Amino acid sequence: MTQKLIVLCTLFGFAFGFGQKVKFDKNKPKDQFINEIISKMTLEEKIGQLNLPSSGDFTTGQTKSSNIGKNIEAGKVGGLFNIKGVERIRDVQKVAVENSRLGIPLIFGMDIIHGYETAFPIPLGLAASWDVSVYEKMARISAQEGTADGINWTFSPMVDISRDPRWGRISEGGGEDTFLVSQMSKYMVKGYQGDDLAAKNTMMACVKHFALYGAPTAGRDYNHVDMSRWTMFNTYFPPYKAGVDAGVGSVMMSFNDVDGVPATGNKWLIDDVLRKQWGFDGFVVTDYTGINEMIAHGMGDLQQVSAMAMNAGVDMDMVGEGFLTTLEKSLNEGKVNIAQIDAAVRRILEAKYDLGLFEDPYRYIDSKRAKKEVFAKEHVAEARRIATESFVLLKNENQVLPLKPDAKIALVGPMADAADNMPGTWSVAARFEASVSLKMGLKDKNVVYAHGANLVDDKVLFDNATIFGKKPKWDERSADELIKEAIEATKNVDVIIAAVGESSEMSGESSSMVNLDIPVAQKRLLQAMYDTGKPVVVVLFTGRAKTLMEENEKADAILNTWFGGTESGNAIADVLFGKVNPSGKLPLTFPRSVGQVPIYYAHFSTGRPLSDEKSDGCTFEKFRSNYLDECNTPLYEFGYGLSYTTFDISNLKLDKTTLNQGGSLKVTVQVKNTGNYDGAEVVQLYTRDMVGSISRPVKELKGFQKVFLKKGESKTVEFNLTTEDLKFYNAEMKFVAEPGEFEVFVGNSSNAKLKSKFELK
Ligand code: BGC
Repeated sequence: MTQKLIVLCTLFGFAFGFGQKVKFDKNKPKDQFINEIISKMTLEEKIGQLNLPSSGDFTTGQTKSSNIGKNIEAGKVGGLFNIKGVERIRDVQKVAVENSRLGIPLIFGMDIIHGYETAFPIPLGLAASWDVSVYEKMARISAQEGTADGINWTFSPMVDISRDPRWGRISEGGGEDTFLVSQMSKYMVKGYQGDDLAAKNTMMACVKHFALYGAPTAGRDYNHVDMSRWTMFNTYFPPYKAGVDAGVGSVMMSFNDVDGVPATGNKWLIDDVLRKQWGFDGFVVTDYTGINEMIAHGMGDLQQVSAMAMNAGVDMDMVGEGFLTTLEKSLNEGKVNIAQIDAAVRRILEAKYDLGLFEDPYRYIDSKRAKKEVFAKEHVAEARRIATESFVLLKNENQVLPLKPDAKIALVGPMADAADNMPGTWSVAARFEASVSLKMGLKDKNVVYAHGANLVDDKVLFDNATIFGKKPKWDERSADELIKEAIEATKNVDVIIAAVGESSEMSGESSSMVNLDIPVAQKRLLQAMYDTGKPVVVVLFTGRAKTLMEENEKADAILNTWFGGTESGNAIADVLFGKVNPSGKLPLTFPRSVGQVPIYYAHFSTGRPLSDEKSDGCTFEKFRSNYLDECNTPLYEFGYGLSYTTFDISNLKLDKTTLNQGGSLKVTVQVKNTGNYDGAEVVQLYTRDMVGSISRPVKELKGFQKVFLKKGESKTVEFNLTTEDLKFYNAEMKFVAEPGEFEVFVGNSSNAKLKSKFELK
């Protein structure tokens, strides 16, 4: 009976609306406007809105989109992504608006992950700035450029916590910490979306990948995830929720399974957690062919997995056309119902409405703006400034840095002259031809350059690690010849700068690694450089935590620059020569050995911890939780990073020793710049919940502030700690702050030792 009614209504709607284009009427309330559109749509047009093809022939997934032009005319496309260029976008939008029956505009998406044409540091590097204004500014400029060029939806921020540097996509997120990544999530959503989604320079953000994508077994991309509910809720979920709380318009599902059910078909995850518990009212999109991939996961054929996704609460199907080709059949067979399809259509139309696309489908299409705003000078200048904030100084023996302006330098290493690697992974729109290598950044300095070594010895690995063609130079000469030339270059210099590490494609999607060392070919070069007896400054390029034991022992200085974006080379020069004092801090732990992975500061105590908590973590104790052949401690801890100056953090004060539920506590410290340079320090606040109904981490970051201090200057830094900050999901999965004793630590890394305590009533 209901089925018949639906068919009648649809027919009526079709007859009523035939030939009628959707017309915006600002006097009509949004709900009414959208109801009227839905009532005019045929089933085919409804399902069409749920279809998100990718432009172009390239595919990373299980299949690719078909007949895009024809489908747009037939009203069978809701949006298009990764199409670049304002004129091309205008042409496509015109087809949708003028040639399709209802003229519903398309939404245009893109992976604008860390900048548009102006590339900023990779997200892991952005995280290392520990500066929320940087997160927001980067997103703001990205939105400014993207919308000027026709894009109104970005697949960012990626907020997958990861504690496994073997996983290549750790580069795309904010690292290991729940609090830090949640801050990033919030401020990036703010930066992209602004206060008004319909403004011409704001775009819709998309929190991804929901959920737990950063915890694949053994660090292998797309692999199975196995996690307890309370680790999900206490550690991995909060950054997604922070994006939802900040009003994100869309959420992308992840490729992995959660409790055995692929996220894309996981009703508990989408319907219960995301929509009901968190109140998310935007739309849910799959990842690239995420529906189709459920076939390989063992969930059934295309019709079954598409129905599964719809029943779970997915609204939009990226690339795979599972909805497009099977939903009608599933509806006729009662495997999905029309209310679900209507709800999905509604969410997508609402997003288009909020973006102002019904009012003006060409709102973001303005060639004049594109010319003026994309890669604008001031954006490039901001990219340079932000890059300097992202670099982390890991070692600086005898103050070898900053360099003197007239220092004679030998510049060696495969990453020195690799301009197109500087934007880093996932920078589809970047202007590679305009990016600045380290060699270019040092062009006005006194430099002798030699390649010194290839990225790796193995040509097959080299090709696989540079598959998209961003290839650091491959030199056919033997390793010995290359090293000989490098040694020659060091003859009359004061200092050696070795640009080493990974190529940009050695991190990112499908770039998992089992070895975190700098490749052997480059280590050989480094050894030859140490052997010259000249000071060696390692400039590291990486999209993950590396194991740097040997470099830490032998190099004089190590500056980790991640992939710094368009202006990398200039920004590195700014820091090497002290124009900017480094202030970045690690957003993830750097292990001593890959065997320590997963290693993270917010670990849990065991029943057999090392006996002396003040020990260096390196003295073996039988029948305690430690390794026979390695320390427990990392090489560089979370939150660590040096400056050219020194800071003293002292005088930790709490304004009360007992805290009532619902109350708050003021924590203050005195920070003084005690060295010889002006500079910024990141003051970090951690807590430890001493007794809980479940075991609690030994430390949890609860606040941080980046403060700039002139040399000799001191400031009071104040934190406000509320009982909200102390809440966690307890043994009964209730979100509570449990009464008892808490310790507070403040310092400039997760090794913060300055300590006080209070009691929660
Ligand atoms: C990635 C997503 C990305 C999507 C669209 C997928 O392969 O996992 O992060 O947004 O492609 O390009």
